[in-house]
Amino acid sequence: MKATNTLKQLHERQSIYSKEISLLFYELYGDRPQAKEAFHKLTSCIEKLFGERPKKLVKLDEERSINKNWLLSEQHVGMALYVDRFAENLVGLVDKLDYLDDLGVNCVHLMPIMKRRKGESDGGYAVADFLKVDPLFGKNSDLTKLGNELKKRDQLLLLDFVMNHTADDHEWVKKAKAGDEFYQDFFLMYDDRTVPDAFEQNLLEVFAETHPGNFTFDEDAQKWVFTTFHSYQWDLNYKNPHVFIAMLENICRLSNFGADIIRVDAPAFMWKKMGTTSQNLDEVHVLLQLLRACMNIIAPGVALLSEAIVAPHEIMKYYGTGDKTGKECQLSYNAMTMALLWDTVATQNNRLMLAAQTSMPSKPLGTTWLNYVRCHDDIGLGYDDEHIRKAGFDPFMHRQYLIRYLVGEEGHSNARGARYMYNPKTKDARISGAGASLIGLEKAIAKNDEAAIDQAIRHFVTLHGIVLSLGGFPMLYYGDEQAMMNDYSYLHKEDQKHDNRWMHRPLYNEETFDFVKNKGTHQYKMFSQLQYLIGLRKQLPEFADYNNIQFWNIGNEQILAYTRTREHKTILVIANLSNRIQMISSDDLKEIHQFFNYYYEDVITEERLFENSPYFKLEPYQLRWVRN
Ligand code: GLC
Repeated sequence: MKATNTLKQLHERQSIYSKEISLLFYELYGDRPQAKEAFHKLTSCIEKLFGERPKKLVKLDEERSINKNWLLSEQHVGMALYVDRFAENLVGLVDKLDYLDDLGVNCVHLMPIMKRRKGESDGGYAVADFLKVDPLFGKNSDLTKLGNELKKRDQLLLLDFVMNHTADDHEWVKKAKAGDEFYQDFFLMYDDRTVPDAFEQNLLEVFAETHPGNFTFDEDAQKWVFTTFHSYQWDLNYKNPHVFIAMLENICRLSNFGADIIRVDAPAFMWKKMGTTSQNLDEVHVLLQLLRACMNIIAPGVALLSEAIVAPHEIMKYYGTGDKTGKECQLSYNAMTMALLWDTVATQNNRLMLAAQTSMPSKPLGTTWLNYVRCHDDIGLGYDDEHIRKAGFDPFMHRQYLIRYLVGEEGHSNARGARYMYNPKTKDARISGAGASLIGLEKAIAKNDEAAIDQAIRHFVTLHGIVLSLGGFPMLYYGDEQAMMNDYSYLHKEDQKHDNRWMHRPLYNEETFDFVKNKGTHQYKMFSQLQYLIGLRKQLPEFADYNNIQFWNIGNEQILAYTRTREHKTILVIANLSNRIQMISSDDLKEIHQFFNYYYEDVITEERLFENSPYFKLEPYQLRWVRN
């Protein structure tokens, strides 16, 4: 162990977390043969990894263990991006940090950059080596340099960790294929279809259209392998404690590149049990709690983000429940709110948004949402049926309407999206498409309609303004800051044409960065308005996420209204969800006056509201942040 990471620190942390680690470990692995040996291996691995933690990161770990709520701050604004598509490679990305700075972004989420499978790789989510940067992006030292540069600028680094599976050319797979039993136990491999068929009775399909079923026959091993996602992504067998230990090593060493947040990809699928859908099982939570507890000794300053895009009541569990409340992941994707935003686009009303938001329990203090308008994946219409009914709609009919609206099949629709993973039997589908195309910019530009272009931009800015003020960690998606639209060139690329998510994964070039400097362009309008809102967010401590949000029904379905209160100060966020002007009367806000004492100032427009009139106006899709 390096002298810098002191034994005192290690012992202090061990005294707090060792008991928990042991309990969680034996809960999962107690009935495995040689569980005790595996546990010893885990404890010495934790000590080894603690010793490997770079000195400056140990310092950060210590700082964060004092400032525990560092993640909740209104100062954070992130952006998720593909390094190669945004800046060619890691060195190029360093050059582009000023652009992000200029926008106000101070956290970058790099989509997978570790060595990927050759050929199709699901955008890098098929990882061949968890600890080697793919040559496409540069070298390991380039990632370290980027990490250092970000630290210098006081910016955060978020890295992806594909925890559920490896690529089919990972070293472990190669050994398993060659008959090495130790590594065969790293995966779920079966001699014939008996077990797979029994599993399939209850499993769902993630890529039903392109990769039906959950098992793939491997010619080399002559076995059926569990592959939830693509046939080339082999699910890891977390029932084997050696898998957990090996992946703990990988996640900690990945963190040592300077990651502040690690995105745990697809955690819902990490534990399989016959007779169930093998999603969100209790063991998944025990596994994540074990991971968190181990990292509390090794790298406590690293936050875990769960990418569990699952039903709303299931998402909450990734923060931990019962006596483990707050002891699992610190961040979770707010997929529900993201999908609800797109519901407001299609319906121009707040019904489902309010029904859902007012039914959601509060998350544990200290944890936060990752809020977003769009990301690299499709939009799943994963609302709770109960919420849809509460909003007064029929779940099936409503989802069908949303799909038709978002793909542009409804007469009045401005959206230009596409169905993703359409299931002809159930008519179910998810939605692909760039945010700007879904909001109507593509159609407005095709019609050369200036007013419609401005309206689409205003609407898209408003969705972002909601995400910036909701309470949570806002994560922009690259391309959206310039309102980039669908890119149909994927249709001509062999390794992309089967996956229309590529239509919303834009490719930048040097010119792209200049668009935002050119005042007349829609890119400039989007960028500058977003930049302005980001700047404002950082001046409003009410936007820090202390579960300090309250949604209001002000009797007008076209209006979304919520307040954010902190230390006796309140911001009212009020947005017009419709394409018509809305007038808000003082009476509409009667329940909200208690916070305002009749002094209302919109910090976005710097107007004083209700000063000379009992009404104020909201233009189509206008957003106001109103302060007392
Ligand atoms: C996550 C990623 C998605 C990927 C899947 C399998 O959901 O966001 O892009 O296809 O995991 O790794």
